[in-house]
Amino acid sequence: MARLVILYGSQTGNAQDVAEQIYRRAVRNRMNVCLHGMDDFPPNRLLSEASLLVCVCSTTGQGEEPDNMRTFWKLLLKRSLPGDLLNHIVFGVLGLGDSTYPKFNFVAKRMHRRLSQLGARPLCDPGLADDQHELGSEGVAGPWTETLFSELRNLVEKSSPGPPISDDVLLPSKYITTFGKHQKSYEATKDDEWVPLFAPVLKNTRVTSANHWQDVRLITFDISSFGDVGWNPGDVLYVQPSNFTEDVETLCELLDLDPNEGIELCEREMEARLPPHWIVNARTSVRECAEKLWDLRALPRRYFFELLRQVTPSEMERERLAELLDPMNQQDLWNYCHRPKRTSLETLRDFPSAAKALPREYLFDLFTPIKPRAFSIASSHGFDSSKLEILVAVVEFKTKMHAPRKGLCSNFLSLAETGCKVPVWVRRGTFSFPQEVGKPAILIGPGTGVAPFRALMQELFSSSTKPPKPFVLYFGCRNRANDYFFENEWKSFEDAGFLQCFVAFSRDQNVKVYVQNKIVENSTAVWELINTDLASVFLAGNAKQMPTDVHDALITVFRKEGKMNEDEADDYFQQLESSGRFQQETWA
Ligand SMILES: Cc1cc2nc3c(=O)[nH]c(=O)nc-3n(C[C@H](O)[C@H](O)[C@H](O)COP(=O)(O)OP(=O)(O)OC[C@H]3O[C@@H](n4cnc5c(N)ncnc54)[C@H](O)[C@@H]3O)c2cc1C
Ligand SMILES: Cc1cc2nc3c(=O)[nH]c(=O)nc-3n(C[C@H](O)[C@H](O)[C@H](O)COP(=O)(O)O)c2cc1C
Repeated sequence: MARLVILYGSQTGNAQDVAEQIYRRAVRNRMNVCLHGMDDFPPNRLLSEASLLVCVCSTTGQGEEPDNMRTFWKLLLKRSLPGDLLNHIVFGVLGLGDSTYPKFNFVAKRMHRRLSQLGARPLCDPGLADDQHELGSEGVAGPWTETLFSELRNLVEKSSPGPPISDDVLLPSKYITTFGKHQKSYEATKDDEWVPLFAPVLKNTRVTSANHWQDVRLITFDISSFGDVGWNPGDVLYVQPSNFTEDVETLCELLDLDPNEGIELCEREMEARLPPHWIVNARTSVRECAEKLWDLRALPRRYFFELLRQVTPSEMERERLAELLDPMNQQDLWNYCHRPKRTSLETLRDFPSAAKALPREYLFDLFTPIKPRAFSIASSHGFDSSKLEILVAVVEFKTKMHAPRKGLCSNFLSLAETGCKVPVWVRRGTFSFPQEVGKPAILIGPGTGVAPFRALMQELFSSSTKPPKPFVLYFGCRNRANDYFFENEWKSFEDAGFLQCFVAFSRDQNVKVYVQNKIVENSTAVWELINTDLASVFLAGNAKQMPTDVHDALITVFRKEGKMNEDEADDYFQQLESSGRFQQETWA
């Protein structure tokens, strides 16, 4: 029977989750299937092993491939490869991306094109999943997987060893697990595994006033003992958070788990790799997994509901779970889960019979692993190489759920005490600031969006490379007294002639004023900087409304000062973007 090879390229685990879902679907269809991270699968095995190939890959950086597919991708791009190399393969590519980035799903699009160039035949159009979809990446990945399997069925039906495994049957768990009271050991680790820095928190300072609604923290890590860590302005720090203690306790109560019970994990052949040893070792405990591995606050995925439906002894629960899983009734799932941001843990509470009946080895299937979060680095290596700072807005908001929604990582960081060691790693971000001295820049960073610009200004200041024209910063916040971050630093950069700063305080007067208003107010100067001095424009911060408003403000400037009509102004903007002179890094 034809072998289906599923490969994933994933930076923070989302593409891996989706690849695992596709894998399980193939197992249900009794296909001959295997699943690998792309770099664990040498491309020459495509020649000998694969006739059906599914690639699930995300895009990171500025349209870049995730770390775990770099080698595979480089080999696949070799010019010397013949155009008929893969003509024995039919394939599908599913991309995970975010449409707020200019290079939306760039890697998946390139992968689809490259496989076609090498002679492989596409089974279907590439799926381009979008974090911005109201159902998250499942909004596209779900229907795309349906299409994929209907095409695959046509290909493999004749050779299939039997009818699909019913949805009512539990598939084998992700790992082979043994629960028991064995000793914990921390030796067995894989040499090739990459390990983060465990950076001690030096300071955790609230930078908004105590009576302000929003808690924002400047977190300072002491990295003086990690000699080789370097970064550039625009780079990001990934942080791996742990669950809240109260959630760990609730989980143990709900599932009658003994937190001290040991667990031994073993890989199933050809299936999901064990979690990284620095999160949990192969010999671990319930408490450790509940604290560091299982994402108790994530919104439950489809598979979560499938598992509960399969195990619940309660007819009522089974019916409700079937309703939520009905593909014709996605609105119901959205109302239950996505709209109120109901967490996996809260969902378990709603289905107590299922929770109690779930075999414990399936906890690793039920919960997705906690994903790292990115934060723009807010300090410069050149300025002080012993410290690394990030500016963190602590996420808390209300929905119809009784308890306020709390973002996992930002709250984890807000509670981090001095000396506490946090798993972090530095990666290239989306910005590439001009290396050329002399080119001016307009930096637009309301709220925590100002973080990368602080790193940039510190870097310039410390290297004494005074730009011929000061960089121009548009910062926005609610009030001068409450959330004007780094006020004194901007002042000293201004005094030294490095910076000109415009601040929009939205709530300090009757009329609300935002960065976009300040840009339009200064349209002559903005136009001159962009059009005459060839300034680059950088935008960072909240992805909601602000990027559109800033875009519209710039279009207004181009029309007014450049005497352009709407189409011309749009073209001008697009040229700026495609030449890298307009870059943005925004987040939900
Ligand atoms: C490149 C990059 C750089 C970043 N830099 C920074 C930075 O410098 N500072 C910073 O604070 N963050 C930054 N972020 C965002 C950061 O990565 C996290 O997403 C953020 O801290 C929230 O993570 P969390 O774990 O606390 O929340 P999570 O547990 O991940 O929950 C966040 C979820 O809550 C939703 N949400 C948040 N607020 C609301 C609301 N009011 N109503 C409804 N839903 C809501 C969001 O849509 C999101 O789905 C950056 C992100 C990226 C990608
Ligand atoms: C630092 C960073 C850069 C990103 N760059 C892009 C990008 O250029 N294009 C895109 O479509 N999505 C981009 N994304 C969004 C991710 O592709 C998306 O969140 C995806 O779900 C991540 O999947 P993964 O966890 O498998 O890596 C970026 C996300 C981050 C955190």
